[in-house]
Amino acid sequence: MENSTTAKKVMLSGIQPSGELHLGNYLGAVKNWAELAEEFDCYYFMADLHSITVRQNPADLRRRSVSQLAQYIACGLDPEKNTLFIQSHVHEHAELGWILNCYTMFGELSRMTQFKDKSSKNAENINGGLFTYPALMAADILLYQADYVPVGEDQKQHCELTRDVAIRFNNLYGDTFKVPEPYIPKVGARIMSLGTPTSKMSKSDPQGCVFIMDKPEDIARKFKRAVTDSDTENCVRYDPENKPGVANLMNIYSSVTGKRFEEIEREFAGQGYGAFKPAVGEAVIETLRPIREESERMLADKAYLQQIYTDGAKRATAVARRTLRKVYKRVGFVEKPF
Ligand code: TRP
Repeated sequence: MENSTTAKKVMLSGIQPSGELHLGNYLGAVKNWAELAEEFDCYYFMADLHSITVRQNPADLRRRSVSQLAQYIACGLDPEKNTLFIQSHVHEHAELGWILNCYTMFGELSRMTQFKDKSSKNAENINGGLFTYPALMAADILLYQADYVPVGEDQKQHCELTRDVAIRFNNLYGDTFKVPEPYIPKVGARIMSLGTPTSKMSKSDPQGCVFIMDKPEDIARKFKRAVTDSDTENCVRYDPENKPGVANLMNIYSSVTGKRFEEIEREFAGQGYGAFKPAVGEAVIETLRPIREESERMLADKAYLQQIYTDGAKRATAVARRTLRKVYKRVGFVEKPF
């Protein structure tokens, strides 16, 4: 557990507490994170400092930060084996974030496609934090001397920038930061929207999106309405090119049951989509049921969750503090005598 004293490499990821976890997040990523803890020293935090770059309702932000933590634990992230915490509880993030702002170039930040994207979507609130967000993300990663950051396509550019900033700082002051690498997961299904099977499942399309906390009857309804393909053969066959809707459902079914595509084709031979869709819904309901119930149990026990994020923040602080102290020294701050 104790970071740099063990041989385990460090893995870190931030999670924005700005939406609910969905089946695509679960099958595509989080489900596989549980076992990473055997191989890596893993840190996961609720990135609340990042979330306020977009205006949030304070009560919602507070509730989601805790409820997402519960959901991640219920999905298999063991708080004994992983360091789970809330970003704002470890103030070193904000402090190193400021410092790295001074080592990140205006030109670099201007090239970030996510900034361009988000500022066009939030034209009424293009604030400085939205612009300098990648410097804070670099701080998140570099504080823990992370070796790996598991990132999706949308965060690759920020990871690249983190590497550039780390290298720049190391060149100026001598080795201070581990230069992290993106971690491309070995497994992980790419789950598409149930309504538009050509786009990724996303919370912005609630009808095509199954949330971890959805009630069974809502999950069943979403699968019954899932878009299948307009071919006339009405046959469960894996053909992602011509039958993306059926392929997506097969992918989901395979992920939750462990069955291979040939087995699925055999299981539903001669039955058509009318039988297949509710069967996938049922399998998903049974997979998510224990996760939802476990989340609800934890959310009813605030003291338990509080204990977890307190322990997590303490462990994280111990590591973050070491890095920050080194950085303060390197840049020339007077040592704090108290
Ligand atoms: N920027 C990430 C996102 O929007 C969240 C994040 C914040 C993060 N800090 C991080 C991810 C550090 C990986 C590492 O999803």
